[in-house]
Amino acid sequence: METKIVPMKEENLDKNALEEAGEVIKKGGLVAFPTETVYGLGGNALDEAAAGKIYRAKGRPSDNPLIVHICRLEDIYPIVKEVPEGALKLADAFWPGPLTMILRKSDKVPYATTGGLDTVAVRMPGHKTALAFIGAAGGYVAAPSANTSGKPSPTLAKYVTEDLGGRIDMIIDGGRIAIGLESTIVDLTETIPVILRPGYITKEMLEKVLGYVETDKTILDDDAGQAPKAPGMKYKHYAPKGELTIMSGSREMVIEAINQKSREMEDKGKKVGVIGTDDTIAFYRADVVKSAGSREKEDTIARALYRILREFDDEGVDVIYSESFEESAKAGGIGQAIMNRLLKAAGHHIERV
Ligand code: TXA
Ligand code: MG
Repeated sequence: METKIVPMKEENLDKNALEEAGEVIKKGGLVAFPTETVYGLGGNALDEAAAGKIYRAKGRPSDNPLIVHICRLEDIYPIVKEVPEGALKLADAFWPGPLTMILRKSDKVPYATTGGLDTVAVRMPGHKTALAFIGAAGGYVAAPSANTSGKPSPTLAKYVTEDLGGRIDMIIDGGRIAIGLESTIVDLTETIPVILRPGYITKEMLEKVLGYVETDKTILDDDAGQAPKAPGMKYKHYAPKGELTIMSGSREMVIEAINQKSREMEDKGKKVGVIGTDDTIAFYRADVVKSAGSREKEDTIARALYRILREFDDEGVDVIYSESFEESAKAGGIGQAIMNRLLKAAGHHIERV
């Protein structure tokens, strides 16, 4: 299959191309599109066969449910059993935006889309191209991140082409993604709302709207002794080809430990990559040293993380050492999402120095 690539800026929507993309979805095909978080791989959420195609294109296990993307609040009613008051408050505060809500599904949503669950994940993305595309596609677009299963989510269209080129009908290239980490997922099907995946919308922000919000214990801890409630969170994720270790400790100790380990690995003939930050990269001695961004501006780290992991792959790095973001995770904010993804990319391999 030839994959058509259509460049489109949010400020300059191409109506004809959006119509064409919408037709592809209505006919059961697949279109990758930009959102504010990461690129998504879209198919008709109400069509079992389209869901099957998404799983096959990504090489994703079919018990891992898809998020249904909508472009108008009223479109939520036909796909869920009920809309709790909390969901309306959250929609009012954060939609369109990087928040996904888990609700009880109606019969309209096939089990193929929800991975066999009686609940459905719903999100209205904060991206003009995405909203226009969803509208043109009939209003309900199932979309996981547009990467091959297990790889970091794509923050540039070229990574979508690398992973899915030749396997899907179209890619809408909207350039670099703004946030860089997937949406916050909050489960609203129980009495107390629970965060299943941390993201740009933080616990503090949710609590301002809802009062009390819990966090699923498996988010930052591998030994929580229970399975994550978002099925996707149990799979190996975001993993670069090189073996990634997070080094945690004081700034000086981490720099020293990483430099020492890098030297040992390079002596063994391994190519070593280091993930530092703007203030520290000058102190590292390794084959490839990259800054994730500024600790004062954590948004920059969120935006860069997946790109850096993919660049290490392209550069053939065998071993990667990363600074830790545990402290910022404890402080709240997007630090929790950054540390959650980094831990998963490292298979929870963290060393304290
Ligand atoms: O930012 C995002 O959310 C991106 C963009 C494209 O919108 N999408 C995304 O989708 O990250 P995906 O499929 O890569 O991740 C969806 C996560 C998975 O961990 C999945 O298990 C969970 O959402 N999920 C989906 N439906 C669920 C449900 N009914 N109950 C619990 N978890 C669910
Ligand atoms: Mg994903």
